[in-house]
Amino acid sequence: MLRTRPFLSFLFFLTLFSCGGEGSLDAELSAIIKKHDLKPIEKPQTNPDIVALGRALFFDKIISGNKDMACATCHDPRFGTGDCLPLSVGTKGSGECLDRRPGAGRPFIPRNAPEIFNRGHEDWKTMFWDARVEVENGELLTPAGGQLPQGIESVLQAQAIFPITSRDEMRGRRGDTASDGTQNELALIDDDQFTQIWRAVMNRILSIQEYRDMFRRAFGDREYTIVDFGRAIAEFEIEAFTLTDSPWDRYLRGDKDALSYEAKRGAILFYGKARCYTCHSGTLFTDQKFHNIGVPQFGPGKNANGLDLGRYNVSGREEDKFKFRTPPLRNVAVTSPYFHNGAYNDLREAVLHHLDPERHLRNYDPIANGLPPELASTLKNDEATINQILSTLDIEPVELTEEEIDYLIAFLRSLTSPKVYTLHEVIPDRVPSGLPVQ
Ligand code: HEC
Ligand code: HEC
Repeated sequence: MLRTRPFLSFLFFLTLFSCGGEGSLDAELSAIIKKHDLKPIEKPQTNPDIVALGRALFFDKIISGNKDMACATCHDPRFGTGDCLPLSVGTKGSGECLDRRPGAGRPFIPRNAPEIFNRGHEDWKTMFWDARVEVENGELLTPAGGQLPQGIESVLQAQAIFPITSRDEMRGRRGDTASDGTQNELALIDDDQFTQIWRAVMNRILSIQEYRDMFRRAFGDREYTIVDFGRAIAEFEIEAFTLTDSPWDRYLRGDKDALSYEAKRGAILFYGKARCYTCHSGTLFTDQKFHNIGVPQFGPGKNANGLDLGRYNVSGREEDKFKFRTPPLRNVAVTSPYFHNGAYNDLREAVLHHLDPERHLRNYDPIANGLPPELASTLKNDEATINQILSTLDIEPVELTEEEIDYLIAFLRSLTSPKVYTLHEVIPDRVPSGLPVQ
């Protein structure tokens, strides 16, 4: 018995490496899936009346000071729940997708509007590129501090009540006239008065009979607050943007034919030699931690000198400078442009950047990577800025062949649900305010 063992393991090696058939790839992948405890996306239960209310609110510009911005303006179901732009454009902007531009005298939003797929998954503990909304030891931390109302149940619900407070995104400036010619009363409230802003937005919404009826159907006959607003929008996001049928998810459910040969090779690289899994870990493809992968800086920024110091702005820790929360990767093939500021509009370039970050940071070409000229001209590629970025870099270069990169891309493409191409179906024809939907 003992003597035959080496021979048997020799045979096992032969089948694994010499024939290289799909069976052995599946065996290798199944070990990876087990080791990393990877699960397919499941859709949480939702309540249809709450979803219907959330859907109306998500597409209704009445929630913005100037009645010209809906959540969907920046998270458009037709554009992978983003806005096509490297940096987002807020109130008083005009145009759509790549043609959208800020209004006269208005800035770009300092960050890229991320996709918002699968954010109802119970594992989510962070929202925003710097996770300024997060849950830590069961406690919700947000920019509103003690003004955060009781009753919010998730980071997704909490996130939903913040865009309406942001002047550049949705609220507007003092003295602004709204799209229907009325005075923008939401813009008159001071920036730190979250409670007042939320009350004023609810007053606007509840002055419309159709909304009062929808709130009653969703939550029963009682007083409604911004907590209900957040809950409804989150419920809609979960219903509309939880997509469970990417080839990868089907593979995880046991359909071995769901992935191509190339995607399987890519998955093995992702969880092996390419080390992507060290940050894009687990079921959601993110450790929800903060990393500096050397993304070039441009745009208005959030700090002095037009820089965006990322997580540092929340934690105040030197070592967090230029670090951003690892983004998830499902549907990444349709969510261009990439990174916290949309520095790359091509998926392959975004991946190549990771493999040799310093060289990509130093040689970044803003026009070739899709920035409009007015953003390209704000690129901060002076030696001092580059060295500052490199000082907290926390990613190691990886060497891959062209063929291996092709496999990785095939794997990333296999994370796409076919439903991303029919998401326009969730756009309502009309909203209760009567304001135009697109
Ligand atoms: C002006 C464009 C704009 C509008 C309008 C807007 N967003 Fe966003 N959204 C963004 C940007 C930009 C970010 C990232 C900001 C950051 O990380 O600092 C973001 C982040 C998010 C996130 C966090 C995703 C994550 O995992 O980090 C969610 C969820 C979201 N928005 C939902 C909404 C909802 C709901 C509304 C309406 C109430 C809304 N957004 C309105 C641009 C917009
Ligand atoms: C050290 C952690 C780390 C490793 C390792 C890593 N990533 Fe990333 N990845 C990030 C972070 C952080 C970002 C966002 C950076 C930013 O916006 O500044 C990102 C962004 C991305 C994006 C863009 C997603 C979007 O929505 O903008 C893709 C695609 C991606 N990574 C793929 C990969 C692949 C493929 C690998 C393996 C070759 C990999 N990553 C390895 C941390 C990492």
